[in-house]
Amino acid sequence: MLQGKNILLGVSASIAAYKSAFLCRLLVKEGANVKVLMTPDSVNFITPLTLSTLSKNPVYSQYFDAKSGEWSNHVELAKWADFFILAPATANTIAKMANGICDNLLLATYFSMENPVFFAPAMDLDMFQHPANKANIQKLISYGNYLIPAEDGELASGLHGEGRMAKVENILDAITPKPSFWTNKKVLISAGPTYEPIDPVRFIGNHSSGKMGIAIANAALQKGANITLVHGPVSLDLPQKSNNIAVKTAKEMHEACLLNYSDAEIIIMSAAVADFTPQNTTNQKIKQKEGNLTITLEPTTDILKELGSLKKQNQFLVGFALETNDEINHAKEKLIRKNLDLIILNSLKDKGAGFGTDTNKISIINKDNKLITFELKSKKELAFDILSTVENQFLNS
Ligand code: CTP
Repeated sequence: MLQGKNILLGVSASIAAYKSAFLCRLLVKEGANVKVLMTPDSVNFITPLTLSTLSKNPVYSQYFDAKSGEWSNHVELAKWADFFILAPATANTIAKMANGICDNLLLATYFSMENPVFFAPAMDLDMFQHPANKANIQKLISYGNYLIPAEDGELASGLHGEGRMAKVENILDAITPKPSFWTNKKVLISAGPTYEPIDPVRFIGNHSSGKMGIAIANAALQKGANITLVHGPVSLDLPQKSNNIAVKTAKEMHEACLLNYSDAEIIIMSAAVADFTPQNTTNQKIKQKEGNLTITLEPTTDILKELGSLKKQNQFLVGFALETNDEINHAKEKLIRKNLDLIILNSLKDKGAGFGTDTNKISIINKDNKLITFELKSKKELAFDILSTVENQFLNS
């Protein structure tokens, strides 16, 4: 399950750092691409040469190489990684991660991580049991990081108790994705706005940023799904491991969605598709003139409705509804009219919901008219809520 995964292995300054060599070797044997990040002090416990030899990659411990002047870009490293595993995680590095202190490359990379972070504490008994350390571990868990618990045993000080870094086999087991509902599921997602051209320099568009759809794509990728993402013009970073299809107009989005529909098992249409497009697009820029300008608009194809009419038994179709009034009734009507399995409603009346924001407030309605409401949350968190709801409904439908 780790074949082809990009893994950052973080090493901080503990005697358990020698076990990082075994972990590194195991990860490489599993087919993962491993890059090692070391805190400056950890190089006293294990040499970068050992870890670069085992990982078959340069080891990163400084922001820049004093000799070559080469700079290590922590953002690039974080983007590259499917996971970050900090093993061993010392009390000091845990405290810095928990409290926003960023005084080395490993920490800077941690703070840039969007994908899962695992940490395997290793320290002596008294340090481990100190309330400050326990509170820091809890903080890291509350930030969404995954704890790989320390084990009981003999410690470097000669004391006996909790604090030994988990066995490398247990670390490997903890980070290995377990097959789930989403593993290899073929998911088609649409995201972002469409731009309908008026002339070579102007278009009719909307305020959709694509954030919600891209967050769903990222969450589903994290869960092991195969994603095709059909997206309108967006200025966000796209997921790196999905099949991304860039389109501009509603017509192009229609074609791309249709082309990828028959293979898809779950389809989530979050794009804000233009309902109308200029009937004629001029080849030359429309010049200034006296009086009004009339542009005749004609309807576009309702992509979601068409997909609903073509839906096969094994396909699960999810639409969005953006409403400004009588929200629930309008959403229910769309669910039936477009033959959907679920509809995700957001209302422009809710503060923090809708276009461009990092947060959203949604309700989900199923075919039995059951309404599930969610708090105002980040779009990234809601993406996981949406996937859990889809999974539950899919399994019960
Ligand atoms: N949709 C689509 N094709 C269109 C218009 C909308 O596939 N031409 C999809 C959207 O991706 C969304 C759902 O239909 O999943 C609902 O979009 P929304 O804009 O809320 O509603 P409309 O169906 O366009 O209806 P109205 O504008 O009248 O509210």
